[in-house]
Amino acid sequence: MFKLKDFDFKDKRVLMRVDYNVPLEHKVITDDSRIRKTLPTIEFILKKKAKQLVLVSHLGRPKGVDLEFSLRPVADKLKELLAQDVSLMSLGEKSDCKIILLENIRFEKGDESNDDALAKRLAELGDLFVFDAFGVSHREQASVTGVMRYLPSCTGLLMEKEMKFLDMKRPKKPFIAIIGGAKEDKIGVIDSLIKKVDGLIVGGVLANTFLMAKGVNIGASKFSKETLDYAKNILRKYEKKIHLPVDFILASEFSEDASSRCAGVNDDLGGWMIMDIGPYTISGYKELLSNAKTVVWAGPIGVFEWERFRRGTWDIASHLASLDITKIIGGGDSGDAIERFGLADKMTHVSTGGGASLELLSGNNLPALVALELNSKNFNK
Ligand code: 3PG
Repeated sequence: MFKLKDFDFKDKRVLMRVDYNVPLEHKVITDDSRIRKTLPTIEFILKKKAKQLVLVSHLGRPKGVDLEFSLRPVADKLKELLAQDVSLMSLGEKSDCKIILLENIRFEKGDESNDDALAKRLAELGDLFVFDAFGVSHREQASVTGVMRYLPSCTGLLMEKEMKFLDMKRPKKPFIAIIGGAKEDKIGVIDSLIKKVDGLIVGGVLANTFLMAKGVNIGASKFSKETLDYAKNILRKYEKKIHLPVDFILASEFSEDASSRCAGVNDDLGGWMIMDIGPYTISGYKELLSNAKTVVWAGPIGVFEWERFRRGTWDIASHLASLDITKIIGGGDSGDAIERFGLADKMTHVSTGGGASLELLSGNNLPALVALELNSKNFNK
């Protein structure tokens, strides 16, 4: 696999895939670590006198062009952090600015479907491709693996760091994983992850799906209908390893100011929805974690962005911070939580990838890494 030092960047146009899928509240970035952590690579390339640097990222999951998902706040933040001009440009536009941030690549139809024509259009923007977007390494998409068919490609410094911490061949046991958050598709990784871990703590929307699969009344809580059978199957095979909430903090509606109350797993939740785990669940999870030697956490346990539903995520985070074990935090939102709580320096590593770290820790191949390997063979002639 090529690294930065293998390429001569002088006078070259460099295309760089980053993961600036940052958490936003009312268009304000609440955690800029995914941006800050790419700065060493950007600075390296600029120092080597590249002619132009074109950064490519996605933000959220827009269906076509939707300005709610514009990378404008990211371009402004980058300008501030680099103390130089950054031009936000749509694919197809031209700019002489030294640093360009392309507008959200998911505004283009072909990115997620790994369209070859889009990959070619992107490749035309650079002579070399730098991949520093660990958070999307598990995606087979035009701006991730597609471009690597056309340009000599290398990893950036953030990628190298992520690999160093996450490519754990033999994690110390007991090894516990915590999966939470709002992304339902994370469930797909459980099948392989469960074989590696001694215990799996489930929170967020995933927990609701598992509870539903067990026949628990989850009231008006969000869950994934599509993966219900999959969850039933996993539970059938691995019930002993899976730890689900036994009590909850509920809200009368999905709002910061909604009425809230506590309920147990056997209560009828009526029209209420689960927003966080309750005190019995918190103490059970803490006990489990106290016996672990390695913990990986991807996705918050509850709606931590709102103070009244933060307790579960906060208690688990501060408990982890107090343990002298290997603690890896994966992902945009759990990373955001840890940064907001001021606990980042108490963790072994705070990764920029959620789904990607889980895939890697599960022993699955990451498409971006496979493509980078292939690329180094194809362009090393
Ligand atoms: C993430 O936040 O996990 C990455 O940016 C990937 O985003 P995606 O799950 O929408 O592909």
